[in-house]
Amino acid sequence: MKNFISAHDVKDIDGLVQSALAYKADPFKDKTLGTNKRIGMLFLNPSMRTRLSTQIAAQNLGAEPIVFNVDKEGWALEFEEEAIMSGNKVEHVKDAAPIMGNYFDILCIRTFPSLKNKEEDYSELYINQFIRYSGIPVVSLESGTLHPLQSFTDIITINEVMKGGVAAGRRPKIVLTWAPHVKALPQAVPNSFAQWVNAWGKADFVITHPEDYDLDPKFTTGATITHDQDAALKDADFVYVKNWSTYNDYGKIYTNDPEWMMTNDKLKPTNNAKVMHCLPVRRNVELSDEILDGPNSVVTQEASNRVWAAQAVLAELLRNKK
Ligand code: CP
Repeated sequence: MKNFISAHDVKDIDGLVQSALAYKADPFKDKTLGTNKRIGMLFLNPSMRTRLSTQIAAQNLGAEPIVFNVDKEGWALEFEEEAIMSGNKVEHVKDAAPIMGNYFDILCIRTFPSLKNKEEDYSELYINQFIRYSGIPVVSLESGTLHPLQSFTDIITINEVMKGGVAAGRRPKIVLTWAPHVKALPQAVPNSFAQWVNAWGKADFVITHPEDYDLDPKFTTGATITHDQDAALKDADFVYVKNWSTYNDYGKIYTNDPEWMMTNDKLKPTNNAKVMHCLPVRRNVELSDEILDGPNSVVTQEASNRVWAAQAVLAELLRNKK
């Protein structure tokens, strides 16, 4: 693995899951792997889970994480090639990134999409420019179109829950369902979840959403897609709940129909499904209190597993550098 930007950077997803679960069982077993190594963590957007779990993961490996909130504390960065920098952008990424490449051994970056310009967001300009100019491995902490550490965590959690009885010994049915939200949100989490479930290849995968909420088929091809949420949920083992804004007519909210909110009633036709969400979640808009506070929710387990996902990824990149 050179960088960790998408599922396609991972040759053996099951092997990486086993590595993460081994760190969960024994967090400090590689506590000297990162000795004298620095992990730069650049945030161009807010975060709670990703920021804390990745710092803990780096420290468990003996590495030093250094957080830089570029959005609040840094110079405004220009990413376009040949830009005439007469506006409010102060420093070009081609000047800043090589310096970070000298300061750090691995660079982790969070950038959100604008949701205004689909071509620009889906070109992943920001993260690709850091890969191009930093000269060190780059880890996505969520980019314009993907959230690979979240999706890897989701696959870890599904594996863990299956071992505990849900769908043990058979292909699970996983349903990704759209949910209402008050804001237009990126497609990164559902794109990424679809990409990872498809790449993992060990589930019957269904995506359900209202009309005109289709995601980019480059991520969803392989899944069954339906607008009938009730039919989709039948016999589901896992229900992944997430809002996203429209992809085709980019970044819009077409509906906020509360009928799409996940409730215990909606779970009745499932196989007592475990319910997942990447968090943060809008309670009683996306997911009801009764689910989040009840026995079907695995959201805390899922978020806690972010540490082991990040640790497995950082460990592999650190080993590659040795
Ligand atoms: N799920 C997730 O990435 O959470 P944060 O935005 O808090 O990091």
